Amino acid sequence: MGSILMNIDELASVAQAIVAKGKGIMAADESSGTIEKRLASIEVESTEENRRGYRELLFTTKGVEEFISGVILFDETIRQSTQDGVPFPEVLKSKGIIPGIKPDKGAKALAGFPGEKITEGLDGLRERLEEYRELGAQFGKWRAVITIGDGIPTRFCIDANAHALARYAALCQETGLVPIVEPEVLMDGGHTIERCEEVTEVTLKRLYDALLEHRVVLEGTILKPNMVISGKECPEQAGPEQIAEATIRCFQRAVPAEVPGITFLSGGQTPEQATENLNAMNAMGLDLPWELSFSYGRALQEPVLKAWKGEEANVSAAQKAYYHRARLNGAARYGKYTKEMEAEAA
Ligand code: 13P
Repeated sequence: MGSILMNIDELASVAQAIVAKGKGIMAADESSGTIEKRLASIEVESTEENRRGYRELLFTTKGVEEFISGVILFDETIRQSTQDGVPFPEVLKSKGIIPGIKPDKGAKALAGFPGEKITEGLDGLRERLEEYRELGAQFGKWRAVITIGDGIPTRFCIDANAHALARYAALCQETGLVPIVEPEVLMDGGHTIERCEEVTEVTLKRLYDALLEHRVVLEGTILKPNMVISGKECPEQAGPEQIAEATIRCFQRAVPAEVPGITFLSGGQTPEQATENLNAMNAMGLDLPWELSFSYGRALQEPVLKAWKGEEANVSAAQKAYYHRARLNGAARYGKYTKEMEAEAA
């Protein structure tokens, strides 16, 4: 009996805790380049201390654990501590929030396939995952990027990324971490929602084929996908009902019932859209095999950054903004979010 079989119950119970009712994930795993962009948007310099201070603000927000089950960390972040010296993974665990890690090394140009990307980071991954587990991580996240454009995505790119995701997922399970597999079909471009649905369906089917071949136990995994949505520049923008229907139809065709939950990324939707679209799916009241939840980066953090602006005096307002956004997404987990709630005080 292999080690995967031995700890599958534990993996499955962590996966279920991550997609617990009314809760979802906050993605705070921006790589050095991405966090620099986010901080630049509020004119804050990306120094190690500013990154640490910002993450401390997020992780010490009171009460947010009512709606946040897990937080994804970056390599630098999992090693950082609060001003009082408490390591971030400990801060999260003390609130009952599960710490996770992004162990991939980013999406790079796929040689020979102009406009397409492959995610790097498999070399030495077993050892890195072991270290992250010792630092407190209980799950991982690996992001693959699929771009829609003229003649792309190619089947080759979809399969290369599915293969990397599956190798990462198998290593996570061997190490005792729940793999979150993230195949993101980008919303950049002028494509229709129908084209997004077609590409998302093929991407997911090829991913689940690869996971099966790599002997990954699906009960101990989570899927983090894009919603099926119109391209950003498409003149016809689908509304929440159409997005919800297309997304659920697509996932019913491609995602096996053993998967405990689907935690959507926000991918460039506004915070309000991301909440509204998730809400529309849960409001359909369907009897689905998986939870429909969130794992938002930008859609949870945008209002926080805007309220904070890098000023100590704004920390409490920024934490209120985070709590408020988390609460609205918590309501969307039940299909109980309304636009009127946007205006309610945090
Ligand atoms: P967004 O919600 O900003 O797309 O980020 C989620 C994430 O973790 C992407 O890997």
